[in-house]
Amino acid sequence: MALWGGRFSKDTNQGVADFSESVSYDQRLYPYDVQGSIAHVTMLAEQGIIARADSQAIVRELEAIKARLEAGEIELKTELEDIHMNIETVLIAALGDVGARVHTGRSRNDQVNTDERLYLRHETDEIRAALRTLQSALVDLGGRYPAAILPGLTHMQNAQPVLFAHHLLAYVEMFERDRERLADCRRRINRSPLGAGAIAGSTLPLNRERTAELLGFAEVLRNSMDAVADRDYIVEFLAGLSLVAMHCSRLAEDVILWVSQRFGFLELDDAFCTGSSLMPQKKNPDVAELVRGKTGRVYAALFGILTVLKGLPLTYNRDLQEDKEGLFDAIDTVKASLALLAPMMATATPREKAMLAAAADPALMATDLAEWLVKKGVPFRDAHHMVGRYVGWCAAKGVALDQATVEQMRESIPLAEPECLLLFSAARSVAGRDLTGGTAPAQVAKQLEFWRHRLEAGE
Ligand code: ARG
Repeated sequence: MALWGGRFSKDTNQGVADFSESVSYDQRLYPYDVQGSIAHVTMLAEQGIIARADSQAIVRELEAIKARLEAGEIELKTELEDIHMNIETVLIAALGDVGARVHTGRSRNDQVNTDERLYLRHETDEIRAALRTLQSALVDLGGRYPAAILPGLTHMQNAQPVLFAHHLLAYVEMFERDRERLADCRRRINRSPLGAGAIAGSTLPLNRERTAELLGFAEVLRNSMDAVADRDYIVEFLAGLSLVAMHCSRLAEDVILWVSQRFGFLELDDAFCTGSSLMPQKKNPDVAELVRGKTGRVYAALFGILTVLKGLPLTYNRDLQEDKEGLFDAIDTVKASLALLAPMMATATPREKAMLAAAADPALMATDLAEWLVKKGVPFRDAHHMVGRYVGWCAAKGVALDQATVEQMRESIPLAEPECLLLFSAARSVAGRDLTGGTAPAQVAKQLEFWRHRLEAGE
């Protein structure tokens, strides 16, 4: 008979038990369930609600149960629904009446939300650390090739030359915002629902501030109904994780393009690639492709929980049990992606010659010529037009932009001087963009320094 079986005259239909169990997946919450129960009974004893000796016996037994669960020595039963009732059942089997006091003044409604918050707080810290590791890999890679230049793209068309390190640091910035978002979300995760009971609190003199303190929660949720019904923190966490996954996917996409024969800008270490079962020559970027592909299931978790919550009346409804599988899957997916992206990037090698050859196309420096004219006092729109005319002339004649004579250039750009022909150098173009956030080596060196410091500070 289930722990709640008092008012029932039969056992649950087996189909119902299979349909409604959650222990097959919520078992991962066990360390937090034990932690929450220890804090709860400690407080119950301090408040004189249960005897100190009983509380101590429960704490000891819970620790033993945790060790046995870690060792896989406890067989979890789906008839017992979830991890909470499995642990409580084992506790009562060991301690009898004493164990039966653990659930005093508590409901699974506040218990499950407590466990999930403790779990998510831990995972938030882990994911923020994994993001740091990936950022370090990108900063190191950029720092090892400070002079590598590649064509930056807009509309997937060659746009302007940029430093390879500048491109990598763009991702470091995205991952930093992801870390900030998770830290902000953590503030709302780190609040205690414990003591809210099933919905309305308790007639017992529970000390909610004390359990919050014991569990390291920064605050107590003020409203008991909100405390058992709220899953906003899961929505925001998954929104944050979706952005992490999306940024990983964009990085993966750049890598996939760079390693393709069309670009040939990057070489991945063999250990991070796979071959084809048919074509012997193939070396495929499957890790990057899977990182890109797995983004879908992270978004799915976000849409899943949003849909579960929409229209749920207050307070706890069993629908809320559906808050877990997608969440766990999204966490596992993002952690696995980050854990592979970091070493994959750390061991990648840019093909500097191929990058530079592509970036050296003089057409990429057309803007530099227009800006040279601006420095001579020409309004930008006119400069743009003149250079456009020159580009058109070169295209019609089949002449590269840097291969015309000054006289030919003057047909489109009357102010042209021999110096103009020197502007068509990728290195010069990059070096000229020496402003905050620009791609000049001096600026990028500063950015690399900034990141090395920040990453070392290890905040
Ligand atoms: N397994 C449930 C969940 O994950 C635990 C809470 C069940 N509470 C209840 N009153 N049936 O949401």
